[in-house]
Amino acid sequence: MDRAGVNASFWMTSPLQPTYPELFEDSRTDAVIVGAGITGLTAAMRLVEAGLKVQVIEMNWVGSGTTGSSTGHLDSYTDETLKGLIRGLGEDHARIALVAKQQAIDVIEDWDRRLQLGCRFRRVPAYLYCEDDADIEMLKVEYTLVRNLGIAVDMQRQAPLPFDTALSLVFPDQGRFDPLAYIQGLARKIVEAGGQIFENTRAEKIWEENGQGRVETNRGTITADAVILAGHAPLLGMFTVEPRALPYQSYVLGVRVLNDVPDALYWDTARPYHYIRRATDDDPRLLLIGGADHRTGAQIDTTQCFRELDRYARNRFRVASLDFRWSHEFFEAADGVPYIGRVPNFEHIYMGAAYSGDGLTFGTVAGLLISDLIVGRENPAAGVFDPGRVRPLSTVRRLTSNLLHMAKHFVGDRLMGADFDSVDEIAPGQGGLVTVEGERLAVYRDEHGEVHMMSPVCRHMGCYVHWNAAEETWDCPCHGGRYDARGNVIAGPPKQPLLQQEPVTASTP
Ligand code: FES
Repeated sequence: MDRAGVNASFWMTSPLQPTYPELFEDSRTDAVIVGAGITGLTAAMRLVEAGLKVQVIEMNWVGSGTTGSSTGHLDSYTDETLKGLIRGLGEDHARIALVAKQQAIDVIEDWDRRLQLGCRFRRVPAYLYCEDDADIEMLKVEYTLVRNLGIAVDMQRQAPLPFDTALSLVFPDQGRFDPLAYIQGLARKIVEAGGQIFENTRAEKIWEENGQGRVETNRGTITADAVILAGHAPLLGMFTVEPRALPYQSYVLGVRVLNDVPDALYWDTARPYHYIRRATDDDPRLLLIGGADHRTGAQIDTTQCFRELDRYARNRFRVASLDFRWSHEFFEAADGVPYIGRVPNFEHIYMGAAYSGDGLTFGTVAGLLISDLIVGRENPAAGVFDPGRVRPLSTVRRLTSNLLHMAKHFVGDRLMGADFDSVDEIAPGQGGLVTVEGERLAVYRDEHGEVHMMSPVCRHMGCYVHWNAAEETWDCPCHGGRYDARGNVIAGPPKQPLLQQEPVTASTP
């Protein structure tokens, strides 16, 4: 079913290849950007256009991170309801946040056209709908709030979908595009304009010294006037943001349907929500249907999330085939608003993080805003997204619950039973926690039957990792660290692989 290997997104029609060199020596530049996703490359494009010397480092390859795994939807609404946004930010700042997202869509369209990025940007309307009458009042309230902010919105009962909706809000002038083609195109243009991109170069330590930022990588140290943390989880253990960024896993199916579905973005009010959108112009009956989000590392059968989406799709569309699927991780801020700007207590280090499910628009907002801060340009969104903000009540409540969540996993997971009674029970392609000679181990049996044993202790702050059967990864519930089946880091704050243990072949009590 998976088109380009396990868990490859729709946009990855073939495995990604290295395109840019590795860093090969210590260097000095105006701005160094950690992470070649949409945040990092948007900032890089703006900074090279402003005449700065820019270096971008990427731990894997351009497009291998979250941007290339997103679904390409661009809308100005946020995952948080507008009511919640206004409660946290106030009306003025909520308006600025929504307008900034709409402007991000305009910038993507402009760059695609002007720089010829080949990302097949399309303007489409977006429908926020409910199927359940119980959510009608909530949508009516949202409609009024959006209108009061002066933002274009319409309301109608039925969204143009082949099943009944109870009410829907319509946002005009939203967008969709190929996010991988977009950032690969941006990367080419940045290099043509004199910027440098280094792949397979991992930031290991970031600090300030003598009025400059320093980034130590596995291949050399870069000194710069400005450092931008633009990776998937730009936390690196040194900042106060970690407990305020909550990791979630989300799932997507590529479904071929026999229904005609107008080209638009659709998402519902369910918890967790579902979304529906066309993948591409070439194949109008191929839909991306996603959702089923949950906290990363939750002790659930993650393959069940794909099954739930499959059931959701078949109950609403005439499904011809299920063509592919993938999942990805995102981070949510404790108050629902991303952290974008100068990192608290630092002069030269900037960050963009916790975009919820709005990574493409908020990532673009972040790239634009951070580059404005660096070149000293006014940006009205600076006060809205400031990572150092303190928003008392709701934030404290979620922060407290997140700290409790981490404490529960740190202690509780050590007391919980193992997933299997013995290593022998683990089939090829499976993994799980097993107690071997009194010691809890993370055990994976590969497709050849070989057993790989690791410590389950996350190398970030010591929580136990959990097996994710849908993606065949080890996921950490505390800060969203993720490792491949053999224990190598693939995402999140950890910098080192899970500690390997000697394999055993015999079953154990
Ligand atoms: Fe922080 Fe695992 S990611 S303890």
